[in-house]
Amino acid sequence: MRIGEAALAYLPHSRGEADFEVDWSAAPAPFKTYLDAERVPPGDFGALLRDLYGISRVRWSYPFGASSWLATATSKESHGFPAHATPVVATGRIVPSGGARYPSEVYVADEFALYHYDPAHHVLDVVRRGDHRRALTGETPELVLVLASTFWRTGFKYREFAYRPIAQDIGVLVAQALCLKDFRVRLGFDDRRVNALLGLDAFRETAMAVLAIGEGSRGPDAEDLLAIPYAQVADPAPSIATELPATARLHAAVLAQPADFVEDFGFTPELRVAQRSSPRNGFSRAAITIDQLRAILAAAGPDARCVVNRVTGLRPGAYDRDLTPLETDVSRIAHRWALWTRLSFHEAAAAVFIAGDIEREIAESGDRAVRVRHIRTGVAVHRAALAAAGQGLDARINSDGTTEESDRALGLTSARTLTMLLVGVRRPGVSLERSVP
Ligand SMILES: Cc1cc2nc3c(=O)[nH]c(=O)nc-3n(C[C@H](O)[C@H](O)[C@H](O)COP(=O)(O)O)c2cc1C
Repeated sequence: MRIGEAALAYLPHSRGEADFEVDWSAAPAPFKTYLDAERVPPGDFGALLRDLYGISRVRWSYPFGASSWLATATSKESHGFPAHATPVVATGRIVPSGGARYPSEVYVADEFALYHYDPAHHVLDVVRRGDHRRALTGETPELVLVLASTFWRTGFKYREFAYRPIAQDIGVLVAQALCLKDFRVRLGFDDRRVNALLGLDAFRETAMAVLAIGEGSRGPDAEDLLAIPYAQVADPAPSIATELPATARLHAAVLAQPADFVEDFGFTPELRVAQRSSPRNGFSRAAITIDQLRAILAAAGPDARCVVNRVTGLRPGAYDRDLTPLETDVSRIAHRWALWTRLSFHEAAAAVFIAGDIEREIAESGDRAVRVRHIRTGVAVHRAALAAAGQGLDARINSDGTTEESDRALGLTSARTLTMLLVGVRRPGVSLERSVP
């Protein structure tokens, strides 16, 4: 297969909507667990890991829609008392994730061992003893984080389309990490070696980004570490080798082309990690200010453009990142979107789009370009979301708001829209939400 061929064959799967029935019985476990791993408290890494990927809030909702109230209030068992439906208690994470699937896993390497972060229990599983830092990075850092993706956790729901939100989720985590520490972010590495060190079967779960910080002592070679036994996974997610053939071909091509580059995303301590959540009931049709929009676009970076609905001082329409009007027709932008996305788009004050020309990047740098571009997109859109939170606003990533109409409305010719962030003021809901300390 020629370089870039698998990526080009995959691209049509990553466009537009994932429109099919979801087989929920095929959903794998939402958290990774090990059979026999030693578990240790996260210690010095506790705050970092919680702010990166932890469970951050609990939502308590008591459904009381007319139908559930009527059903119980009129039933004999309720004796006429308004016994409401069963309450729902759900946890939420510090970061958003496409379809709330949370396919990413975080590994930590220090001088003593390689650990897996278990957010459900906020503990570290010891994957293997030994100093893995040099073997994972080729450098001698003080601390290493590896971000990996479990394909099927998102794939069972979105099928081949899943590779796109999976990679964007990694970008979200990279953006979050760069609010917390000035990591060097390696997106080009020897995937097979890193996966072997993590004990991963690359068609179930694969390393996507390697983050390093500081300087430490020299660790042993990969070969010496691989001789040490590692913890066994309790319930491995299914392999995508046959389930998602286009994704598997693309991934095989990436594995066959080890790379070596660090991406300079920049440290953004000013974008503070927020106690955020995506609005559950849409937006309230309130206007935002031009300065708020400017701050969000600045955080989103050079690939951002926007559509304005209600921003004081700007007429509705499409704009470039510096708020130069694009003189395009936005009237049909939402007409093919899912109903809920269309409704929220019209209620939101503005929609920020992140664009990229993946085909050109595949021609320049090969199959890895799909993954890298979607990671960059995830970084940009999460930075925009954090900037919105910093402005006291609400935001929801809607990757499904990207179609040929959105490309046209944003004045794109060869590049395409890769995700959309709706920003505005949330419509109040009826559930109680509290952050986890
Ligand atoms: C890469 C990415 C893509 C997303 N795409 C959509 C989308 O197409 N439609 C949508 O309603 N929400 C989308 N979301 C938002 C998630 O549904 C949301 O983050 C998740 O349900 C968790 O809820 P929370 O953000 O309130 O914590 C996306 C989030 C991410 C990170």
